[in-house]
Amino acid sequence: MLVEKLYENNELKPYELKELIEENSAEPSPKLLNAALSVRKKYYGNGIYFRGLIEFSNYCKNDCYYCGIRRGNVHAHRYRLTKEKILKCCRNGYRLGFRTFVLQSGEDMYYTDEIMTDIISSIRREFPDCAITLSVGEKSYETYERYFQAGADRYLLRHETANEEHYRKLHPKELSLKNRKQCLYNLKEIGFQIGAGFMVGSPYQTTDNLVEDLLFLKELNPHMVGIGPFVPSKDTIFAHEKKGTLNMTVALIAIIRLLLPKALIPSTTALGTIHPLGREKGFKAGANVVMPNLSPVGVRRDYSLYDNKICTGEEAAECRYCLDNRIKVAGFVPDFSRGDYYGMKSVHAL
Ligand code: 5AD
Ligand code: FES
Repeated sequence: MLVEKLYENNELKPYELKELIEENSAEPSPKLLNAALSVRKKYYGNGIYFRGLIEFSNYCKNDCYYCGIRRGNVHAHRYRLTKEKILKCCRNGYRLGFRTFVLQSGEDMYYTDEIMTDIISSIRREFPDCAITLSVGEKSYETYERYFQAGADRYLLRHETANEEHYRKLHPKELSLKNRKQCLYNLKEIGFQIGAGFMVGSPYQTTDNLVEDLLFLKELNPHMVGIGPFVPSKDTIFAHEKKGTLNMTVALIAIIRLLLPKALIPSTTALGTIHPLGREKGFKAGANVVMPNLSPVGVRRDYSLYDNKICTGEEAAECRYCLDNRIKVAGFVPDFSRGDYYGMKSVHAL
């Protein structure tokens, strides 16, 4: 009943969303998963888009309680990649077929607007047929504009939780949910394809919080939604908290697919970390993106947002072919095109 209603209208009342989550979080029903798959097929067929992730710095000025690269973690071995190293990762990725590069880092103040726009415009010049996605945190409106003008197309900034009280339990007081949401609206206004999202099963998260996350996503209407299970990191105060579950994450992927039919939804590395077939289960719930790592193997282990992250020892090529195979075995089709949001063309696209 609720699944049919959500399938038809792409929305539900808050109490209905709550009921749907509660009914499916222990084990997502085949009805929910099939509805999500059929909606995803309508817009994106059976394709799974590849994005090459380059984790270019793990310095961070923030101290989020859940994150392994928070500034307070004195055990983190810090690194930064130069522009030349980043370009090398892109060249390697391009040879392997990637046409989207995702540049992700902690909030590292070393990368001033000048340095960052130089990196972006260098990638834009050398790879005019590729999409550039940034994931570098909260910046001013002006900085975001400069990134966009330098040639960036997309921006990932998970909202983490849409509830004030919950946000306070996950972040120190210098960070605010209000600013985070404002950043997302600013990025959208500037013209980026934007990605929001949250962790499933983060400490203190309630079902009502998840309902708020879904309502916020519906209102923001982002082009991409990244969700993955919370996975404890040994160097944080949440080291001994419970991790998020596979089934709850999969159920939420399916619900988000039905709420935002055209969204690009990754099956995340965190999902692959908590279960050997986590990413496959994500695809089967309506996810249509994977983001294998293009970072140099030498720094992979240092970009530890959480413990036991998969693929820290593999070369980019190994993950590319591994995922290619996994996607086919799961019954989907690897897609190496730019993979813009349905019906949308970036101003920087050729
Ligand atoms: N477990 C799972 N995901 C995490 N992230 C940060 N720390 C963790 C963790 N311990 C996620 C956050 C962030 C994204 C880059 O990684 O949601 O936005
Ligand atoms: Fe990295 Fe399978 S995706 S080894």
